[in-house]
Amino acid sequence: MRTNYCGEITKELLGEEVTVCGWVHRRRDHGGVIFLDLRDTTGIVQLVINPDAGESFKIAEDVRGEYVLKATAKVDPRPEDSANKDLNTGEIELNVKALTILNVAETPAFPLDQSSEVGEDVRLKNRALDLRRPEMQKNIRTKALLTKAIRDYLESNRFLDIETPILTKATPEGARDYLVPSRTNPGKFFALPQSPQLFKQMLMISGFDRYYQIARCFRDEDLRADRQPEFSQVDIEASFVEENDVMNFSEEMIKECFKNVLDVDLGEINKITWTEAMETYGSDKPDLRNPLKLLEVSELFSKEEFKVFSDPANDSNSRIAALVIKNGSSIGRGQIDRYTDFVKDFGAKGLAYIRVEEAKVEGLSSPILKYLSKECLEAVFSTLNLAKDDLVFFGAGKKKTVNDYMSRLMAKIGDDGELLDEGFKACWVTNFPMFEEDSNQNLTSLHHPFTSPNINNVDELNNIDPLNLASRAYDLVINGIEIGGGSIRIHDQSIQDKVFKLLGLDESEVQEKFGFFLNTLSTGCPPHGGIAFGLDRLAMIMVGANSIRDVIAFPKTQSALCLLTEAPGNVSSESLDELNISLMEE
Ligand code: AMO
Ligand code: AMP
Repeated sequence: MRTNYCGEITKELLGEEVTVCGWVHRRRDHGGVIFLDLRDTTGIVQLVINPDAGESFKIAEDVRGEYVLKATAKVDPRPEDSANKDLNTGEIELNVKALTILNVAETPAFPLDQSSEVGEDVRLKNRALDLRRPEMQKNIRTKALLTKAIRDYLESNRFLDIETPILTKATPEGARDYLVPSRTNPGKFFALPQSPQLFKQMLMISGFDRYYQIARCFRDEDLRADRQPEFSQVDIEASFVEENDVMNFSEEMIKECFKNVLDVDLGEINKITWTEAMETYGSDKPDLRNPLKLLEVSELFSKEEFKVFSDPANDSNSRIAALVIKNGSSIGRGQIDRYTDFVKDFGAKGLAYIRVEEAKVEGLSSPILKYLSKECLEAVFSTLNLAKDDLVFFGAGKKKTVNDYMSRLMAKIGDDGELLDEGFKACWVTNFPMFEEDSNQNLTSLHHPFTSPNINNVDELNNIDPLNLASRAYDLVINGIEIGGGSIRIHDQSIQDKVFKLLGLDESEVQEKFGFFLNTLSTGCPPHGGIAFGLDRLAMIMVGANSIRDVIAFPKTQSALCLLTEAPGNVSSESLDELNISLMEE
C-alpha cells in the first residue's frame, strides 16, 4: 500500500515520488493551501495540498483529525523559513498528487498532541487512541527493545526459555491470590501464579541448569504507581551457583540493556548490606541519587535526662537518626512545621531539629537545647561535623517507624531542594534478614519461604533466634525502586521443612500446600539460585515515566479495573451454576 514510512522521509529522497499512509495529526488551512501533518508509527511528515491538486484538494477539505489517509506525493524541500530542525522530516514536505481517505474517524475523545493535559481515566478508557500518542509509541517500543536485549543476553548465555503454568496452585510471594474456579472439579480453585518460583526450582531439579522466562505474574495487592495486579517478570534460575554468580550475570545483563537501549553506561554497581542500607538510608531501597544520609546517633543521648531521646537511645529496637542538611538555613520555620506534619502522618511523634547559626556549640539554636547537656551538644557538634548554616533533623523511636518516616523525609527534602543527581544510580542490597515479625508477632519471610538461610546445616536453625537469621537474598535497586530480587534457595528438604514450620505451618498444611515440592526436593536437588526482575518497572525507569501504567499497553487502574473493557464484569447465572458458585446477597 505504501512505499515509505512517514517519519523516514528526509532530504535524501528529494525529487522522488513516495506513497505514505497514516493518521491526520493536525490540519491547517493557509489561505487556500491545506497542510496536513500525517503520522504513523515512525513519526510525522507534512503534506501540502494546493488548490490546483484537483480532486485531492476537495478531499483534503473534508479531512478531519485522526482520519486515516493514503497520499502519493513528490518530496519537495521546505521553504528555508518554515524548516523544522526538531523533526527528522523537518526539511522536506510532500507535495500531494493523489489523496485517498482510507477511513474516517469520530472527533477524538482528546487531542493527541503532547501539550494537552488529559486525565488518566480518559486516557485509559480510550486506550487505543492514547497509545497513538508519540510518547506512548516510544514507551511501548522502548519496552520491546528492552525485552529483546534481555532475551539476546540470556539466549547467548545458555539460559533456556521454558513456559510454566498459569492455572496452578498458590505460590506465596506475600500478596493475595487471584483464584479461578474449576468447573470439572466442583468446589476447587486454581490460583494464578504470583511468580513461577516453585516451577523454576523444579526445573533445576530436572537438570535444565539455566532457565528463563518472561513470565506473567498475578498479585491481588494494594496497588501503587509501581505495582499492577498483573505484570511481567524476567524470571531466571541457575544451578550450581552462589550469590555472586547470580549477581554477576544479572549485572552484566542489566548493564547490557542500558547500553543497548539507552546508550547509558551504568558503571560499577556497589553492594551494600541490608543493615547498612537501613541505618544509612532508612530503607532497603535506597535512592543513591539523593546525597542525604542518616547518621546513627543513639549513643550520644543515652545518658541524657530528655526522655524523648534517652528512652530510644537505651532500647535495642529503637534508634535516633540524625539527618544533616548542609546549608539548610534556607529551610524556614514554616517549612519545618510542614515537614513535621509530614512525618507525623507516618507515625512520628515529633521532629526535633537544631540549626547551626555559628560554627560553634554556642552557635546552635533549637527548642530542644534546654533539655540537653553541654557535653551532649559538644558530642553532637563534633560527631555530625557541623558547619555554619547546617540544619539537623532528629528522628527518635522504634527503628521501623523512624526508618520509614526519615527515609520519606529524605526523599521529600531531596525533591524539594532539587538535590538529586541526574541519571541512574544502581546498587545491590544483600544479607537480608530471613524473617521479620508481623503485627501479630508471627514470623513472615522477608523474601519468600524458599530462600536459603545463611547456615551450614539444619542444626544451626534449631539453635538460633529466627529473627537473627540472615538469608542469602539480594535485591537490585535503581533510583530508589526495587527492580529485581532473588536468592540462593534451600535445596535440603529438611531445612525447607523446618522453615515452613518456623513460619507457623503445621504438618498437614505443609503437606497440603507444599507436599509435592518437598517430595521433589528429595529426588536429588542441586544447589541453585536465581532472581526475577520487574520488566515493567525496568521499562518505566528507562523511559523516565512516573507510573508503570505508562509502559503497559493495556494496564489496570489503582483499583484493579480495566476501564477500556470494563473488566472484571458480571457473569450469567448459568455460568455460575456450571461452576457451582452462588453469590451472596449484598
Ligand atoms: P519479587 O516478589 O521480589 O520476587 O518480585 C520480583 C520483582 O518483580 C517486580 N514486581 C512487580 N512489578 C509490578 N507490579 C507488581 N505488583 C510487582 N510485584 C513485584 C519487582 C520485584 O523486584 N519469585 C521471586 C523472585 C526470585 O526469588 O527469584 C519474586 O517474585 O520489580
Ligand atoms: P515534646 O517534649 O514532646 O514537646 O518534644 C520536644 C521536641 O522533640 C519537639 O521539638 C518535638 O518535635 C521533638 N520530638 C518529640 N518526639 C520526637 C521523636 N520521637 N523524634 C524526634 N523528635 C521528637
